[in-house]
Amino acid sequence: MGSFGHGSAVFLVASLVTLVGVCYGGSDAPRGVAMGFVFDPKAKCDPPCEHAGICIRNNTCFCSKGYEGETCKYANCYPKCKNGGICLRPGKCRCPPGYGGRYCHKVTCDGGCWNGGECTAVNGVAKCICPSSWTGSKCQEALCPQGCRNGGICVAPGICSCPEGWLGGACHTDVTQHFSPLWLVAGFMLCALSPA
Ligand SMILES: *[C@@H]1O[C@H](CO)[C@@H](O)[C@H](O)[C@H]1NC(C)=O
Repeated sequence: MGSFGHGSAVFLVASLVTLVGVCYGGSDAPRGVAMGFVFDPKAKCDPPCEHAGICIRNNTCFCSKGYEGETCKYANCYPKCKNGGICLRPGKCRCPPGYGGRYCHKVTCDGGCWNGGECTAVNGVAKCICPSSWTGSKCQEALCPQGCRNGGICVAPGICSCPEGWLGGACHTDVTQHFSPLWLVAGFMLCALSPA
């Protein structure tokens, strides 16, 4: 019985040490988190404890899970928000541009990457790496290696949309050289003269 009592006492002391260890655990333990068993029911906290924190001693808040700081003002995120993200609510990070995911650990390209482009961090900045026939910040611009001349616009890889009067893969052919007004007149006359 004597040994049992001794064992219980050891267990109790060990528990208290563990509890104190938990409460004061780590050198970066926030001041607002204090030992739960030193509780003064008449304690006043001014400014008051936030986010359902309990005032346990004068100006000492016991914060609810997910919050820290002297008045339990700050949400905490574990794992911590990466890449300069800010903890908005417990476990919810707000990420800086270029990063996403729960802990801002993923590189994201604003607006995404189009046409098979891949979002990758280049020197810490999110960038779309485009397939060979596309370019632009989102890989939204097609490339026409042949060039689009005479005001033509590259609308798809290798395909130019030509302005009126121009034809060909690079809008390099003058339509008027092939279909002069004279030809139109001749064609019209042929139609008019041909017997019905
Ligand atoms: C807490 O503050 C109140 C009022 O400011 C004071 O009367 C009381 O003695 C304080 N309690 C302790 C434990 O210091």
